Amino acid sequence: MPTTVRSFAKINLGLAIGPTREDGFHSLTTVYQTLAAHDLVTVTAKAEMTTRISITSNDARVPSDENGMTEANTASKAVRKALALVGATAEIVIHIEKRLPVQGGMGAGSANAAAALIALDKELEGQGIAPLRGAERLQIAEEVGSDVPLFLIGGAVLGLGRGEEVYPLADLPVLHCVVALPQVGVATAQAFRDWDARWSERHADKPANSLTHSGPSGRLRELSRTFASAFCEPHSSGVFALGQDLALNPLVALVRTGIENDFEEVVFPQNPLFGEIKRTLAGSDVPEQAALYAALSGSGSALFGLYATEEAAFAAEGRLTRMGVNWLRTETLPREEYWRRMLVAS
Ligand code: C5P
Repeated sequence: MPTTVRSFAKINLGLAIGPTREDGFHSLTTVYQTLAAHDLVTVTAKAEMTTRISITSNDARVPSDENGMTEANTASKAVRKALALVGATAEIVIHIEKRLPVQGGMGAGSANAAAALIALDKELEGQGIAPLRGAERLQIAEEVGSDVPLFLIGGAVLGLGRGEEVYPLADLPVLHCVVALPQVGVATAQAFRDWDARWSERHADKPANSLTHSGPSGRLRELSRTFASAFCEPHSSGVFALGQDLALNPLVALVRTGIENDFEEVVFPQNPLFGEIKRTLAGSDVPEQAALYAALSGSGSALFGLYATEEAAFAAEGRLTRMGVNWLRTETLPREEYWRRMLVAS
């Protein structure tokens, strides 16, 4: 019997880019937050002598791996690895019902891969095959992509390494979220290169050990420390800059310490519209309608605003509509809800 799961989107609450690693990827520190907006991923598995995986979708932009030459679809990549690991062979059909816009920064392709793994496990279980262990799922997820493992945790997730090293954080209160969807795309690899160029240009004349230049690793440490302290009880160690607001809402605490997404520094100058959208998401003449936080998600081009009230989110939608920018309305999805809503009853 087919298994259908919800494949939820994510945003990044701050993202610091660190040095380039030996494998060419950049170290980073970020907090991912899952959203209620989702695609649907259905996996059907039938035990066979050899493995065959096909992908179908309501959206032609989803790579179908039709000719079988290269496996462009993250979901089929993940499923093939999982079958190999458990030593099973099967005919697999993965159907991806795209409900999310195809928009960089929301992690939809990565989420599809994690959802396919979760659905496959259920299918194998139905056939008497032991499911993957948690650590095995995480291993496969990180081989498929940096943004895949977070979807095996859900809620608020600390991302380290190249983003694939994930740790569950205490959940934030549910907030209304408006995601702006500009029609221009951003090439992630190029955005990383642009960051590198900008960083070395800016710090060319500063000694690496000066206080104003702690190096790209210092930036990561700084944001990791901010995140860690935003999610713990207030204390007076004097090492962390955060104060009493933490007990109220970690997001407010993070915002007050000035969390930011480093990609904005390179992506906004190239796309002035993005800065305008961020200001539109953030601001309002009515203080109660301003966003708690607005930022670019990942390398974009999705931007989001988080709001305490439905009225504030509604007002932000109106501002974007008047600007002629498409948007998506959703809310943040804490971990328990993430897993409670995951499986679609058949
Ligand atoms: O994760 P995604 O496939 O979107 O990454 C696209 C490219 O961005 C990678 O091939 C790599 O060049 C760059 N990247 C990086 N450091 C990361 C993640 C991605 O340099 N942590």
